[in-house]
Amino acid sequence: MVDLFGEARMLMAGGKGLLAADESDKSADEKRLAAFGIDTGPEMRREFRDILLETPGLEKYISGVILYEETLEQKGDGVADVFPISLAKRGIIPGIKVDQGTEPFPESKNELITKGLIGLPERLAAYKEKYNTGFTKWRAVITIDGDRLPTAQAIIENCKRLATYACEVQKAGMVPMLEPEVLLDGNHSRLRAREVITKTMHALVAALEDQAVDLSGVIIKTSMAVSGKDSGRTDTPEEVAEDTLGALMEAVPASIPGIVFLSGGQTPDEATANLAAISKLVKAKNAPWPLTFSYARALQEEAIKVWAGKPENVPAAREVFMARLEKVSNALNA
Ligand code: G3H
Repeated sequence: MVDLFGEARMLMAGGKGLLAADESDKSADEKRLAAFGIDTGPEMRREFRDILLETPGLEKYISGVILYEETLEQKGDGVADVFPISLAKRGIIPGIKVDQGTEPFPESKNELITKGLIGLPERLAAYKEKYNTGFTKWRAVITIDGDRLPTAQAIIENCKRLATYACEVQKAGMVPMLEPEVLLDGNHSRLRAREVITKTMHALVAALEDQAVDLSGVIIKTSMAVSGKDSGRTDTPEEVAEDTLGALMEAVPASIPGIVFLSGGQTPDEATANLAAISKLVKAKNAPWPLTFSYARALQEEAIKVWAGKPENVPAAREVFMARLEKVSNALNA
């Protein structure tokens, strides 16, 4: 039997964090490539992943990478192994996003529900057997709109699906990473974000208990409590830390082996400073779980800009990527 707690703790260990490189093909094309004026398509996505995943020394800061299906079969330039195998050879645990994106929630048309449970056990078995993936991720999306959204039904249905997903992943011998992302979009206050994160985490833990998921073998991936993007307010890192940790300490049991943060549209500097303030407060408050980063945008953005789709820029792109990794990892020891 796989030691899920041990595997989860390995992802959290050693002052390292995770790289989320699991954008769907469409998101990678639109939000990572075209958004920066770079050509799209499978080859450009491979080059983009190559820059990140084959950066020499990645294992110094990264314990695990969340991959997307297409990337499992791709390779870096001049590398013999496909990405997941190449990562594993450097001591980095390969993970895989297994949800299949969102669709409108029939009971509340401005909210989203995540799909991907159909055929999940078969996909999990195949990933594990072929690529020896150690963990998987499922992302649900929680939208804030004043006091109106999220509805309790959308939170509950998303959390039920997260719990069903977690059951299947544990049965397949992998660690489920549960990500109910509370979106930054909107003009809500930081306190409203804190309240929604708290509610969502309560619902998630209740759903996991209902479905008898082993809490000591999951990782929770969460948003930080920050003011909405259109609120006109920039929170101080200390404020973010206070409300983020406040929400988590209220709702997440001590038996969870680790919590990781998404960057959710914060700038690289904001995501780094907020993580540093959270790490400080974790020590001061003696929080029961290890915490680390699992960023996509905040780790990738600067490297993509420098790369600009040109092969001659790859070394410089890797340099800024490593510099950001170093800063984020230093934030854990703030
Ligand atoms: O699902 C989202 C990713 O895992 C994290 O991405 O850091 O850009 O929010 P982000």
